[in-house]
This record gives sequence, C-alpha cells and structure tokens, in this order.
Amino acid sequence: MKKVYVGVSADLVHPGHINVLKEAAKLGEVTVGLLTDAAIASYKRVPFLEYDQRRAVIGEIKGVSRVIPQETLDYVPNLRTEKPDIVVHGDDWKTGVQAATRQAVIDTLAEWGGKLVEIPYTPGISSTILQAKLKEVGTTPDVRLRRLRRILHAKPFARVIEAHNGLTGIIAERARAERNGVPVEFDAMWSSSLCDSAMRGKPDIEAVDLTARLMSIGDIFAVTTKPMIYDADTGGKLEHFGYTVRGLEQAGVSAVIIEDKVGLKKNSLLGTEVAQKQDDIESFCAKIVHGRGARLTDDFMVIARIESLILKRGLEDALTRADAYVQAGADGIMIHSKTKAPDEVIEFMRRFRETHAQTPLVVVPTTYNEVTEEVLADAGANVVIYANHLIRAAYPAMMTVAETILASGRTLECDDNCMPVRQLLELVPGTVN
Ligand code: SPV
Ligand code: MG
Repeated sequence: MKKVYVGVSADLVHPGHINVLKEAAKLGEVTVGLLTDAAIASYKRVPFLEYDQRRAVIGEIKGVSRVIPQETLDYVPNLRTEKPDIVVHGDDWKTGVQAATRQAVIDTLAEWGGKLVEIPYTPGISSTILQAKLKEVGTTPDVRLRRLRRILHAKPFARVIEAHNGLTGIIAERARAERNGVPVEFDAMWSSSLCDSAMRGKPDIEAVDLTARLMSIGDIFAVTTKPMIYDADTGGKLEHFGYTVRGLEQAGVSAVIIEDKVGLKKNSLLGTEVAQKQDDIESFCAKIVHGRGARLTDDFMVIARIESLILKRGLEDALTRADAYVQAGADGIMIHSKTKAPDEVIEFMRRFRETHAQTPLVVVPTTYNEVTEEVLADAGANVVIYANHLIRAAYPAMMTVAETILASGRTLECDDNCMPVRQLLELVPGTVN
C-alpha cells in the first residue's frame, strides 16, 4: 500500500473535500494532515469549528485511515516525518497564497521520489463560498463570544477596529486588503466609549449608559459575525460593574476593558491636561475580581487597562499595577500611552513579558501611529486596537459635503465626495431585493 498524505482545513466539509479524499483513497492508505487553528489563521480567518470538532468529522470519512495535526501551512515538517509516496490536493492552489506551499511540497517529495497528484477543483463549491453564505446567516451570541479567545489562541496577533453603528460594523466585517501577498482583515471590533459618545453628540465622560450602548451593539451584531471588545471606561461602581459584565456577556460581547481611574473620567488622550485620578491598586483589583465573579462563563474576558503612562506616573508604577491586576485574575492587560513615539509602550511590554509570557497584551496606537503591527507584535503585543479611525474619517468627509452644499446652492459640486446612490442601495443587504 502506498502512503498518501492529504492536508486539509475541513472547516466546512463539502463535496470538494469528499472528492479529493475519494481519489486519494484509490491511490493508497490516506493520512490526513489536519491544519490546526493556528495554521489556518496564518493565512485566512480562524475556522468556525475547533480542531477537535473538525477532527471528529474528517476522521469518520470513508477512506481516511488516520488524522494527524499539521501545525503550519507549510507541509514540509509533516512530509519529512511521514515520508508519503503521494500528496493529494485540489488543483486550486497553483496561484495565490498557497502557490509557494505547493512548490515546497513538490521539491520535498522529490527528495525520496514522491509525487504530487492534483485533483480538478470541484466547481461551484468552496469553503470561501460557504463562509460567505454562513455570514449571511449570521452567528449566535455564544459562538461570537467564544471567538475572541479562539482567535487569541490561534493567532499571535489580532487587529481590531472601532465600530459604533451598523454601518461601521459592516466595514469592520467586510474590509479586506492584501499585505505582502497575504489577505488581511480585521479580527474583531472595538466598542469605543469615545466614538459611541461622539456619534451621539455626547462627551466621553461615561454619560452614555449601558442600555444605550447595548442598542448600538445590537445594531452592529445584527449585521456582523466578528467578536467585540467593549470599552467600559472605569467600569463604574464595583456593584454596578457586575451588571455590566452580565449584560455584555448575554449580548455576546467577548471582552470588557476597564481603566484604572476613578471620579469624573475624561478621555485618556487629554493626558494630564485635565484633572484625572487613578484608582488605587487594591480597589481596582477588587473591581476585576467582582467583574470576573459575575461572569456566567469563563469565555468572557475582563481586561485591565493601565493609565500610569497617560498620567505620567512612570513605567515602574505601570509594571507594579500590571502585576497586581494579573494576580487579581485579569484576563489581559491593556497598556495605554499618548506619546508620539512607541518607546514607553514597547519598554513596558518588554519588561512585562519577562515575567508574564502568556497574558494577552492590548495596545492602542492612536498617537504613536508610525509603529507597524509587526514591530508591536515582536515587542509582545497580542491585540492592536484602531480605536477611533472610522468616526474620525467620517466626520470631516460629512462636514465638507455639508459646507459644499451651502456654498454652491446645489449638490453637483459634492458629487465626487459622495458614493453613488446605487452603491448605497447595494451596500445593505435587503435594500435592493
Ligand atoms: C476609546 O476609544 O474610547 C478609548 C481609547 O478609551 S482612548 O480614546 O485612546 O482613550
Ligand atoms: Mg474610552
């Protein structure tokens, strides 16, 4: 019997997979290399089903003898240990992100006279098509909530963008680009207190209550599937914070971030320009403990945000607090800064990582915006939040159009600044048909 190796993700198993496995089984004994969550997340989004769920499905398919994990998109490590005679794959990986992977398979197999057999792609069906369909169906609060922990587990680094209504939710859900040949998209959304207040014409001083903010989240969740991290300001009074946690968890939000300030909270980017009081370590730790105690599931994360650098209290104070908050049970640490250079944040992460290898670290590079995701990730960050950019982009664009109409007495002059009506009609599903 020849040894046949088939690498698959098997997130949404469809007739294309069955066809490849059927053809593979005709050639010999089939070992499936099942890509782990991390391997899949390295080139596309974290799969819907967890590794064990996918293994349970693929292991039952006729002709599959065994299933082993494939830890990387690159087949080579598994090929070297398995030394298969044949690798079988659909012929749809000749171009795009997997083209280099394919070439490495061919080169490695050649070392022991193995060969690659490619099965014609089954037209009309692919996991990408199924994913698009699944997105139309949506998600459930439980599945959405759990997704953030899964992303943090599978990916070294997650990128998050602010969404404050259904439309910005659609942008966070759909925006895509290619960076160095790899498709990139946002992993999650940030419900920013600043943006959620500003879009209501209110100041960022905890004046917009949870009920109002949950209504925006309801609008966002109706049209998206990605997880959300919620900015809960100071978390309010300890006794109230438990109810915030419950409300968010019930809605399907994945994480809450609270900042260690007390009294009338003002936006951090005002720094020491305004009077701001930092909470003492003990009472903030009590809030973390209380919030975590109020959760119904361990999936929901309570992340502690440190304002020491914002308030010019220094790196040592930030590190002491980080340590205390982690001891209190914080599921992650957000370190905030409003300097132009990333140095103090990078130094904090370097020092923090000396003693805390695993705790997720969140950064918000609004002022230190020259630094790239790669540099932040190398320094130890796990989550980057682009906290206010969609509202900052929208307001000046809208004001320009309003002023152009006033100055012109008609709208012709602002046509270039407006999307065509047809595009708007097609933007939101259900408007045209
Ligand atoms: C927010 O987006 O509301 C934040 C981040 O809390 S910052 O505005 O930088 O304080
Ligand atoms: Mg805020």
